[in-house]
Amino acid sequence: MPSTRESRNQTRLQLDSGQLDLTGLVLADADEPAFRTSLGALWSGDCMDVLPMIGDEVADTVFADPPFNLGKEYGDRSNDMRSDYLEWCYGWLAECIRILKPGGSFFVYNLPKWNIPIGAFLGTQGLEFRHWIAVEISACLPIPGRLHPSHSL
Ligand SMILES: C[S@@+](CC[C@H](N)C(=O)[O-])C[C@H]1O[C@@H](n2cnc3c(N)ncnc32)[C@H](O)[C@@H]1O
Repeated sequence: MPSTRESRNQTRLQLDSGQLDLTGLVLADADEPAFRTSLGALWSGDCMDVLPMIGDEVADTVFADPPFNLGKEYGDRSNDMRSDYLEWCYGWLAECIRILKPGGSFFVYNLPKWNIPIGAFLGTQGLEFRHWIAVEISACLPIPGRLHPSHSL
């Protein structure tokens, strides 16, 4: 017997059997998405394999919530303890800038430690800094029990 949430999700999937038209958004030889509805498409893979399949200047908004390099366990397809973390970030950040339309918005969610160099990098790539959005995360820390950044509001 499916739970209420499962049955709600199944109903939603049955209602949305459409397929977003990806023509002009991804390259002609792009992999098929793992999941697609009329609202969007989802690929499962390394971001540096998936992002290059997306065309130039097609996205109004990019939101990135990368691993924070805290050594968190995300499964064997991910490394969350990189000595080259910022270099790795600069690679996918450059891909995100490439797919962003002129005037588009780029949201990067990370710790202040990483957002400071990441923000500086984005400035060198021609993006204009607009806002620093602080969230209070003490109730749901990335790794419970660890020190975490705090902001005065
Ligand atoms: C901070 S979590 C973000 C979770 C996501 N926002 C969510 O709500 O489910 C970082 C995510 O990045 C994924 N990840 C790590 N390395 C990746 C890579 N090279 N390419 C794509 N995703 C990666 C991890 O598996 C993890 O799901």
